[in-house]
Amino acid sequence: MQSFRELSRLFEERTFAQQFPEKPERLYQAAEYILSLGGKKIRPVLVLMANQLFGNLNSNSFYAANAIELFHNFTLIHDDIMDRAPVRRSKPTVHKKFDEPTALLAGDVMLVKAYEELNKIDINFLHEIFELFNKTAKEVCEGQQLDLDFEKRETVSMDEYLEMISLKTSVLVGCCLQMGAILGGAGKGTQQHLYNFGKNLGIAFQIQDDYLDAFGDTEKTGKTAGGDILANKKTCLYLHALENADKTDRNYLIKAYSGEGDADKINKVLSLFKKYNSDEWVGELKQKYYETAIHHLNETAVISKNKEQLFHFAAQLMQREF
Ligand code: IPE
Ligand code: IPE
Ligand code: MG
Ligand code: MG
Ligand code: MG
Repeated sequence: MQSFRELSRLFEERTFAQQFPEKPERLYQAAEYILSLGGKKIRPVLVLMANQLFGNLNSNSFYAANAIELFHNFTLIHDDIMDRAPVRRSKPTVHKKFDEPTALLAGDVMLVKAYEELNKIDINFLHEIFELFNKTAKEVCEGQQLDLDFEKRETVSMDEYLEMISLKTSVLVGCCLQMGAILGGAGKGTQQHLYNFGKNLGIAFQIQDDYLDAFGDTEKTGKTAGGDILANKKTCLYLHALENADKTDRNYLIKAYSGEGDADKINKVLSLFKKYNSDEWVGELKQKYYETAIHHLNETAVISKNKEQLFHFAAQLMQREF
């Protein structure tokens, strides 16, 4: 079994030579730019890890991993436009470095390239893979729309939030695991447990992402501190604080989240998140989804030894600071 680091290196070797056409320069430079900034590569590595549960890695899983990483990067480019984010991976976002139309097109072309990669997969798997990928990609769009809709809403329930993050983030993590399983020849029951492992891990991952946006170290996250507060994102931190705030604080939060923001807003909101122990509460929420994820991995019918790597990976991911 190969470690996260080895799988990540193998993935990079395979995709290093990936070429975009030369012209139009700005379009393909924008696509190459975001890919060159790297990122953690958790999704492609998860495809490979799931695949190696069932034996040796095969080429199909590298095509799937590449398609998913291209798709992920496409969603990031568009997400940064939607979220008005100036920095990602410690560098200017694509729409800041180039411009918005170019960023939109670079995202579009990367989505098409993702399909080209999937299309290299062995025909015997193709139908199942496309079905899963298409379902997931539509769900990500749905989640992103809800995320935007919620910015403008005063109240959002915790269940609505959880549904939104499931769609925008966690289904793609589930998809990675299931694709690796499909390409490893796993049966439906095993695929489903691995999907649910990924989905619940993805929910915990997004909860941590929301936590880091508020309390993380920008040097590590590579994103603007308090970006979600500035954009009035209805994160689990906000919803918890709002639910527990006294009347004055509640009125402040509602008013602050209906307008533009500045450093003062960020500091005041962060102090309220602390005052109402929202940071601790979201840690517990994250843990709950992590445990559900682990339950599904336990239920996955693969010999225990082969699963050790995924257990380890999941535990590490919960502690992440970037
Ligand atoms: C960022 O994903 C988008 C979310 C779903 C939170 P990652 O944190 O995996 O981003 P990179 O690829 O490592 O930059
Ligand atoms: C991103 O969620 C989800 C997708 C890109 C689909 P966020 O908006 O929280 O991700 P970051 O924090 O910008 O990476
Ligand atoms: Mg964002
Ligand atoms: Mg977003
Ligand atoms: Mg975020």
